[in-house]
Amino acid sequence: MKPFNLILLTLAANFAASAGASAQDAKLPPVSTQIGVTYTNQIKQIFDVSCVKCHTGDRPKAHLRMDSLAGVLKGTKMGPVVNPGDSANSFLIKAVAHLTKDPDAWMPPVHNKAGIKTLTPEQIGLIRAWIDQGAK
Ligand code: HEC
Repeated sequence: MKPFNLILLTLAANFAASAGASAQDAKLPPVSTQIGVTYTNQIKQIFDVSCVKCHTGDRPKAHLRMDSLAGVLKGTKMGPVVNPGDSANSFLIKAVAHLTKDPDAWMPPVHNKAGIKTLTPEQIGLIRAWIDQGAK
């Protein structure tokens, strides 16, 4: 192999490795720079508008109640969907950013009858900041 080709191959391999490490994070909306983000002050209002309609009451979808901090932290019948301190590895963030493999988990569901819209990158960034700051 010519030296030039070898250099190109090395460059390509390095690029692939660095892209792989943070590929998931790179696709997520950036974390909001707001400090002191809490469930009560910033997050509850987002969940109330976009999630609570289907995630409340005696039979919440996926057994996930989103009308209280305790309910959100408890998660679904499968377990927690919020990983305090690590928004990039929180299932809830992957669900609202449409990064789960299964599109059925994209939240709110893409064509829901209630007409509830997809969260904005700003809203997702705020929820990420809340989780990264400990989901208080
Ligand atoms: C119109 C109804 C509706 C709305 C609004 C809604 N969800 Fe859901 N959610 C569902 C249904 C139905 C399921 C069960 C989907 C499944 O099991 O495939 C679900 C499941 C989930 C799950 C678990 C997914 C899994 O595969 O384990 C999470 C997490 C979730 N929702 C979060 C949210 C969040 C966050 C919001 C608001 C941004 C939201 N949902 C808004 C109906 C809704």
